[in-house]
Amino acid sequence: MKHDNHQTEQIPLVETLEARRTVAMKHLRVGPVHLDDIPKETSAADGRLWQDTWPDGTQRRVYTRDEGNTDASTFMLNFPPGYARPQELEYKKTNPVGRFEYHTCHEELFVLKGTFKFDDWYEMRDFGYFNHPPYWLHPAHQHAPEGVDLFITNSGPVDFTYVPIPEDWDQRELLMEGFPHKSRSRPVAALEIADLPWEPVLDPDGGRTGIEGKHLWDDLDDGWTTWLMRVPEGWSGTGAAEANPGGDRFLVIEGDLTLDRGEKVELSSMSYFCDPDQFVYPGAGTGSNEGCLAIRWTKDDTLGLPVLRF
Ligand SMILES: [Fe+2]
Repeated sequence: MKHDNHQTEQIPLVETLEARRTVAMKHLRVGPVHLDDIPKETSAADGRLWQDTWPDGTQRRVYTRDEGNTDASTFMLNFPPGYARPQELEYKKTNPVGRFEYHTCHEELFVLKGTFKFDDWYEMRDFGYFNHPPYWLHPAHQHAPEGVDLFITNSGPVDFTYVPIPEDWDQRELLMEGFPHKSRSRPVAALEIADLPWEPVLDPDGGRTGIEGKHLWDDLDDGWTTWLMRVPEGWSGTGAAEANPGGDRFLVIEGDLTLDRGEKVELSSMSYFCDPDQFVYPGAGTGSNEGCLAIRWTKDDTLGLPVLRF
């Protein structure tokens, strides 16, 4: 049985498929690589594409970047306690409602540790999730009183454009009026992942794999699904590891995971791995000693993922 892991809701498009692909999320081949082995960048002096919204005290570690091409990147970003954007503090002195920002790149972000606040509109705690397609308006006054760790993927460099927030804004983020829908996929404004239930992930016959998941986002342009997975202590897959065209990507948050991909791939907490061309069905050689919690991106129709619940 093939599983249909994608939502069917369609957003009308005004652009060609090719135009959308230029802003689609990238899944660059990496690894495995561990966060501890990546140099820390702490300022514009040693970090290319350093954003002016990252003041002193910010630390970045880049898992991968499409250097000199699209400049798509995947990285861990740490804001120190008390982080707030100097530009927004200044702006709010004369415009207390604040302003929106938007960018022309696509951005996916996880709050891994700490609390990330969007002014006083809303806040995301570990784990929080958002997914901003191009031109998606969201409050620019982002701050983290206790500091925060963010895991971010951008489809290209982040360019900022600002628009005043209307006095009567209903707190629903929106696409910039008059701008093209570059992505067919549904944006996610501020999702507390803890609010979603864990649900079984099924094998091709509809049986349980022992993996549990939370379905977060479908990239309808590229066929990838973002989800959270966990397996218990001592878990392993069953049967043969079967490789198919597709893709598989992991960020292990807690515990350990060993993949059987012809050779063994050992992942521990904060290890990252991405194969953008092949999905390998988890056979008996795939398993975990301590149990594992991971962010997972798959392009595959053999595993039956839970449906979107929000
Ligand atoms: Fe943003």
